[in-house]
Formats: sequence, structure tokens, C-alpha cells
Amino acid sequence: MNSSVILSLHHLSCTIPLQETSKMLLHDIHLHIHSKEWVTIVGTNGSGKSTLAKVIAGLHPITEGSMTSSIPGNPAAQLVFQNPDTSIIGETVYEDVCFGLVNYGVSEPALEQIAMKALGRVGLASLAHTPASSLSGGQKQLLAIAGCLAVSPSLYIFDEATSMLDPLSRKTILELAHQLHVEGSTVIWITQLLDELTGSDRVIALESGRVAFDGSSREFFYGTAADYMVNSLSDAGMTPCESLGFTPPYVVAVAQRLIRQGCVLKTKPLSPEELSHVVGVLCQ
Ligand SMILES: Nc1ncnc2c1ncn2[C@@H]1O[C@H](COP(=O)(O)OP(=O)(O)O)[C@@H](O)[C@H]1O
Ligand SMILES: [Mg+2]
Repeated sequence: MNSSVILSLHHLSCTIPLQETSKMLLHDIHLHIHSKEWVTIVGTNGSGKSTLAKVIAGLHPITEGSMTSSIPGNPAAQLVFQNPDTSIIGETVYEDVCFGLVNYGVSEPALEQIAMKALGRVGLASLAHTPASSLSGGQKQLLAIAGCLAVSPSLYIFDEATSMLDPLSRKTILELAHQLHVEGSTVIWITQLLDELTGSDRVIALESGRVAFDGSSREFFYGTAADYMVNSLSDAGMTPCESLGFTPPYVVAVAQRLIRQGCVLKTKPLSPEELSHVVGVLCQ
């Protein structure tokens, strides 16, 4: 295993038996995840994202191929689910965080200190003795993240963790994940919201349980480096994002339109700042 590779999936497949047949959930997934990487996984409903998340978290059996991991920590990986209600077990906010810690063998007096620190980190310390069921959706997701933080994994997997939240909570959760990444965690961010993808170094797109794209977000939105060096995003040519049936974020859609009208953009923008810069250059 390459020194910075912490997780490898070797031609991995997952099949589940059905009554008279079987169903392939993942097929021949071959990829490597590097330490401290931020990887975004995209794919339409049913493309296999959650199955892959569970496989990586050790919660789903592998039918063929294998997975090797050198991720430090016990637990090494924690998974934040799409629906926060599914991960809440404790009566109160505090008890919920303690539940995971007790499972990993942490006992008093360390328990209280670790749980309160994790709750403080997500801004829920003042609600520690509130019934968990009374929290808003966004707060429940913050509680789920506190439960993960408390056990200090090296890898966080967020499986559409913002998809059921309002825009403000969505931003809070995404920023928290970015902080964890900046502090040295490896992050796998699963989403269907392509706006969440523009800050990502690497994009993996799943289609029918297979890897349909694995590359940079600029390549995902604009085609290969060769395409955008010669500025050849033609009307006929489809970007990987388009050929997988996704609508690109507004910034990318505007830039694509400019390119298709013949404008030469020095960089292919992924953020409003980059777009305003390239448009500014055109206007000079
Ligand atoms: N336990 C199961 N039994 C039958 N089909 C399943 C099961 N789990 C997942 N699937 C199917 O596997 C496919 C991939 O599911 P999933 O990984 O949840 O996709 P995604 O997260 O991308 O929406 C879907 O077609 C789903 O219906
Ligand atoms: Mg899913």
C-alpha cells in the first residue's frame, strides 16, 4: 500500500440474494483513499452510495474482492447517516453521546469530559440535558456528528448528511466537516447537491453500482485537462457531469455557456469568486 493510501478497495463487489435471483449493489469498485483527502462521492438515487459508505465503515459484507485499511484509531471510521433520527439512541443529548463512548469502553470520569467537549464542539453543550427527540433536524445531525467526534475517528463518512436539512443547517454541517478536514481528518462526503462539490479536490461518481468517474472536480464539470487547456468545450461535447445526468451548479453553468459562446476563460471557475474574476478579465 502506498504510504499515503489509508484505504484500498480491490475490485470489490456486493451482491444481495433475492428470492430467486440476486442483486448487484456494487460492482468491481477499485479505488484508493489517501490520508487527509477530501473525497466527494456523487450519484443518483440507487447508484450505490450508501452501500459503499457502509462497506467502508465495515457495516456491509463484501461479496467479491477485498478492502484493506491502515486507518489509525479505534474506531477508525465513523458514518454520519442521511436521516439523523436513525442514529439517535439516547434519551437526552448527553446520554446519546455517552452511548457510543460506553460502547467503545470509555467510563467515568473521562466519559463526561469527552462527551461535553464533543457537544461543545458542535454547539450543543447548553442543550446537554434536553430530550434528544426535541431537537430540530439540524441539531439532531449535529448531535450525530458529536457522537462521531467523541470517539475520535480518523475517517468521517457523511452520507447525504445535509439532504434533509434547511440551508443554514446544511452550511453549518458542511463547515464543521471542513474544519475536521483542515484539522487532519480524512473525509468522504456523499451528496447529490453539486454545489457542495466545488470545494472538493476529488470526485467519484457512481452509476448503477460502478465507478463512472474518478477525478478532479474541474474535470468533472469541464472535461479533461486537455479539453479545458484548448478551451474546447464544444456544443457536441458533454462533460462527465452532464453525461451522468447531473445539472451543474449555477457558477459552472454560466461559465460553460460563456465557453460555448466562444469566450476564452483562463481558468474554469468553480466558485463565485473565480467566476467573477474570469468575467472581470473578459470585461477589461
Ligand atoms: N437490503 C437491500 N435489499 C434490496 N435492495 C437493496 C438493499 N440495500 C440497497 N438496495 C438497493 O441497492 C441499490 C443501491 O442502494 P444504495 O446504496 O442505498 O443507493 P444510494 O445510496 O446511491 O441511493 C438500490 O437499487 C437499492 O434499492
Ligand atoms: Mg443513500
